[in-house]
This record gives sequence, C-alpha cells and structure tokens, in this order.
Amino acid sequence: MALSPQDLHRIAQSRGWRDGRVEVFDTASGKVTVKGLRATRHAARYHLLNGVARLLGLPFLQAAPMPGGRQAQQTEVARLRALHGVGARVPEVLHVDEDHFVMRWLGQDHLGDVIQSHHPQAAALWREAGDALVRLHAAGQYLSQGFARNMIVDGAPAAPAWPG
Ligand SMILES: Nc1ncnc2c1ncn2[C@@H]1O[C@H](COP(=O)(O)OP(=O)(O)O)[C@@H](O)[C@H]1O
Ligand SMILES: [Mg+2]
Repeated sequence: MALSPQDLHRIAQSRGWRDGRVEVFDTASGKVTVKGLRATRHAARYHLLNGVARLLGLPFLQAAPMPGGRQAQQTEVARLRALHGVGARVPEVLHVDEDHFVMRWLGQDHLGDVIQSHHPQAAALWREAGDALVRLHAAGQYLSQGFARNMIVDGAPAAPAWPG
C-alpha cells in the first residue's frame, strides 16, 4: 500500500511527531503511525556504565547499544520489515524518510494498560503475548524490548467498559 503524495506531504510538514516523537494520522489509506528520529545518543555514558558493570563483575548489567538517530531508525525499520516478512504481527512499514518513518497503526490499547486495568481477559492476553514471543524466537527472530507496553492488543474493548 502506497501513501498518496498529499498524505506524505501533510505528514512531513507536521509538528506532532517532531514534538512528541509519535503521531497518528488518518490518511486515504487508513490510520498510520509516524515516528520521528530520536536524537543521537552520546556513547560516553554507556562506556562508563559498561565499565562499572565489568568492574563489579556483573557483565549482564551492561547496556544494550542504543545509538539513536539515523542508525536507530535504520535498525528499527529493518527489524520491522524482517519480522513482517516472516508473518509476525508487527506494523507494516509504509514509508521511510530522512527524519521519520510511517507504519500502519495497530490500535490504541497496549497490553500493559490492559493488564493494569483488570481486563477480564488480562491473564489470557498476557499468556497469548508470551506464546507469540516463544513462536517468534523459535522462528529465529527477535524483538527489542518485547514488553507489555510495546504490544498492542487487537480488538480489546475500550477501557471504560472493563470492570474495575
Ligand atoms: N504502529 C503503531 N500502532 C499503534 N500504536 C503505536 C504504533 N507504534 C507506536 N505506537 C504507540 O506509540 C508508543 C511509542 O512507540 P514505540 O514504538 O514503543 O516507541 P519507543 O521506541 O519510544 O518505545 C507505543 O507504546 C504505542 O502506544
Ligand atoms: Mg516503546
């Protein structure tokens, strides 16, 4: 699915994703999420943290590399495309630009909120997410930060309808 030149122009001009990093748009091709580039991170703090972790004999506390900027966007887009290519339910990447990229919008409820709001299906949804992770790893794929807040629940009822 290609976005129209008008939608791409409107997205490129927007302040929303520049100010807030993530912005949702209604386009002629449906709802999309736009993610702006994150500032490049300085490696010095990570080197310091990693040095301390090694000195303490706790190498597993070393930081995962988080470069920010273009490199981070390239990595994210490449992972999304690879995961989409093997049928994982990640958002399809629709457009990549210098300082932002556009993907399909998946929905509004993330699993973290669903669990915390005592949704009647919370345990089953949590289990489903765990099973999905196991299948993904078995297929030789991986996520970064595969946390509940980074998983969107498909078709969950709106929060006010859930019993507290
Ligand atoms: N494709 C998408 N569909 C629906 N919501 C999204 C999508 N991408 C991001 N979001 C929302 O924006 C939030 C931040 O996006 P995320 O990709 O997790 O950014 P970060 O890399 O800063 O963690 C997510 O927790 C989710 O609520
Ligand atoms: Mg996130």
